[in-house]
Amino acid sequence: MLSMLDIERIRADFPILGRKVRNGKRLIYFDNAATTQKPKQVIDAIYNYYMNYNANIHRAVHQLSEEATEAYEGSRAKVARFINAKSDEIIFVRNATEAINLVAYAWGRANIRAGDTIVVSEMEHHSNIVPWQILAREKGARLHYIRIDHDTNTSRDDHEKGEGGDSGGDGSLILDDLYHAISHGNVKLLAISHMSNVLGNINPVKEMVEICRDKGIRVLVDGAQSAPHMPVDVKDIDCDFFAFSAHKMLGPTGVGILYTKREILDAMDPFLGGGDMIREVHKYDAVWNDLPWKFEAGTPNIADVIGFGAAVDYLNTIGMENVRLYEDELTRYMLSRLTEVKGLRLYGSMDADRRGAVFSFNLADIHPHDLATILDEDGIAIRSGHHCAQPLMERLGVAATSRASLYIYNTKEEIDRFIDSLERARLIFKVGG
Ligand SMILES: Cc1ncc(COP(=O)(O)O)c(C=O)c1O
Repeated sequence: MLSMLDIERIRADFPILGRKVRNGKRLIYFDNAATTQKPKQVIDAIYNYYMNYNANIHRAVHQLSEEATEAYEGSRAKVARFINAKSDEIIFVRNATEAINLVAYAWGRANIRAGDTIVVSEMEHHSNIVPWQILAREKGARLHYIRIDHDTNTSRDDHEKGEGGDSGGDGSLILDDLYHAISHGNVKLLAISHMSNVLGNINPVKEMVEICRDKGIRVLVDGAQSAPHMPVDVKDIDCDFFAFSAHKMLGPTGVGILYTKREILDAMDPFLGGGDMIREVHKYDAVWNDLPWKFEAGTPNIADVIGFGAAVDYLNTIGMENVRLYEDELTRYMLSRLTEVKGLRLYGSMDADRRGAVFSFNLADIHPHDLATILDEDGIAIRSGHHCAQPLMERLGVAATSRASLYIYNTKEEIDRFIDSLERARLIFKVGG
C-alpha cells in the first residue's frame, strides 16, 4: 500500500501539478478519464529520443536506427509483459479508437456476415459502438445491446436506503441480455468495456468471455479505462482482443495498443498497406511481413511509443496492485464525501469493490457545464458533457453529467477541496435544500 510519502514523491514527478491555474489556485486535475498527466520520466524519454537517437526504425543498419528500433521494440515487450501477452500479439496504433476500428475492418469484414449479431452494451464509449454500426450496416448484420440496470426515477439517496428498485439500479450489466442474444441470434462478437468511462463500473469480462467461449463468439474488451488503473492479464481474461490508449495511463497521446490472440492475427489480413508491413513487393502482389509488423504500415509514432515504454516502467515501479489499492482508498473516501452533498445524484455503483475512481453525477438541476465552470474558478478540472457515451446518457435520462475522475497522484485533500467547491455551487444556485 502507498503511504502519503509515496504520493508526495509521485506528485513531484508531475511538474504540471505544481501549476497555478484560474484565480491563482493550485491545479486539481480530476479529468484523468479523458487523459492523464505525464511524469518527467516520460517527457524525458521522448526528449532523449529526439535529442540523441532520432531515426526511422527497422530499415537501416546505422547506429541511430538500431538504437531507435531497440527502444521501440523494447516498449512493445514492456507493454506485452504489462498485460501478460506476447510481443507479437501487440500492435501499436494511434489510440484505443483506432485499435477497435482495426478489428472492425480487418477481422470484422472477413468474419461478420448478413444476419450475424454483434453484442455491445448500453454503457459503451462511442468508439466501441460506431465501428460496429458501420460494419453492421455494410454487412447487413445487427447490433444487440446489453442493457444496464437503471431506474431513471431513483435518486442516490434511495439507493443507499436500498429503495433503488430492481437490484438498486446501479448501472450494472443485465447479463440475461447476453444469454438472450446468444439463444436468439447468430452472435459472432461481443464488444464490451472493462470499466465504464462514465459510471466507473467494472464489468465481469472474464465471466462474459466464459459465456461466449464455447459458442465460438469472439470477445473484444475495451480496456481504455481499466488498463491504467488495475492489473490486467489478458490470458486470464481469455479475451480475443483488448484495446487501450497510452495517454490515459501516463503515456503520450498518439499511441494506442491492440492485443489480439496470435491465431487470430495469423488468419487476419492487414488493415493498411504500405511500407514496413511487407516482406516482399512485386508489381502485382506482395508478401506480408511477420507479426506484429504486418499490421503496422508506414513509419509509426516512434517517439511516443518509446515514451509509453517509460510510462509502463513508471507504473511497474509503483505496482499495479498498489495503483488499484490506492485508488480504492480514494474511491471509498470520494463515495462517502459525495453522499454529504445534498441534491447530488451519482450514476454508477456505490460499491467500491465493483468500480474505479470515475464519478459521474448531477447536482440538482445545475447544468453540468455551469458546474464545471464554477469548479474551474476554484482550480478544479472536471469534465462535463456526454463523455462520448450518448446512448448511455439517453438510458440515464439526462443530456449530460459532470464527471470527476482520479488517478494515482490525486489526494483526499483534493477531494475535500472538490466537495467544498460543489457546496459553493450549491449556494450560488440555491439548490439541494
Ligand atoms: C471506455 C473508453 N473507450 C474508448 C475510449 C477512446 O479512447 P481514445 O480517445 O484514446 O481512442 C475512451 C476514451 O475516453 C474510453 O473511455
